[in-house]
Amino acid sequence: MRALEGMSVLITGGGSGIGGGAATHFANKGARVTITGRREEPLAKTASTIGTNVHYLVGDVTKAEDRKRMVKESVQHGDGLEVLISNAGNIYRSDVEDYDEEQLLGLFHSNVVGGMMLLKESIHHLKESKGCVLFVGSVHTQRAFPNASPYAATKGALETLTGVLAAELGKYDVRVGCVRPGGVITEINVRAGLSTIDEARERLEGMGNMHALGRIGTVEEVAEAFEYLATAEWATGNVLTIDGGLGLGVTQE
Ligand SMILES: NC(=O)c1ccc[n+]([C@@H]2O[C@H](COP(=O)([O-])OP(=O)(O)OC[C@H]3O[C@@H](n4cnc5c(N)ncnc54)[C@H](OP(=O)(O)O)[C@@H]3O)[C@@H](O)[C@H]2O)c1
Repeated sequence: MRALEGMSVLITGGGSGIGGGAATHFANKGARVTITGRREEPLAKTASTIGTNVHYLVGDVTKAEDRKRMVKESVQHGDGLEVLISNAGNIYRSDVEDYDEEQLLGLFHSNVVGGMMLLKESIHHLKESKGCVLFVGSVHTQRAFPNASPYAATKGALETLTGVLAAELGKYDVRVGCVRPGGVITEINVRAGLSTIDEARERLEGMGNMHALGRIGTVEEVAEAFEYLATAEWATGNVLTIDGGLGLGVTQE
């Protein structure tokens, strides 16, 4: 396994939720972590709880000049770049009749195209470090939830990219992986105006009986999956499910 100590890691959407949990996990194990997102407040708050191993910058993955700064500053902070965790994401729910083209394009821009273009910006450094890129899929590709087609489609795209890019980048010893989480309480639905954080918590916790293990997960548990894919040197092209068995389709009595 590759050592986490001193590893340079760039995490988009690292100010909150799953990205914030990953930043804390990697930094606590000695990695040099750079986090980014569009709002300064959550980034500064997360960075202040972690300490000097973390650097933050405000940036939007849909903007070319911001992507350039993300890579430049993570290379400076970590003395190179070994792991790109392309985690930034948004949700948009709609039934077919109400599809809004701008919303759909915006969702694909932030969830898929932004990450692809950030990989382009990073690839030279990842080749140099024989590093890896990790995407974030979703249990939405395994279980169908009505009105979730826009979000699920973006996650399906990322899970497909994982295999194709692994095939393309293997000759450079650059690995590609994807973590596929189940339900974790974060701000994603709140930011999209779909619910309050309490409603989000209640809805997710109410899904306990849909999990083989009877409960939703934590950001720390998702971070452990990132760690495995970031350090396992013969692992590429994997979509690693970490969902307590939600994707299995069970319904507990
Ligand atoms: N929570 C779950 O149950 C769950 C399950 C499966 C997969 N996921 C995935 O996990 C990832 C993290 O989501 P989360 O649940 O942790 O929600 P979250 O706390 O809302 O995190 C998403 C992060 O992405 C950032 N972001 C959004 N658009 C961005 C952009 N254009 N440029 C840069 N940063 C951007 C947000 O910060 P700003 O708004 O400040 O930019 C935010 O920090 C997402 O890809 C999500 O689809 C979540």
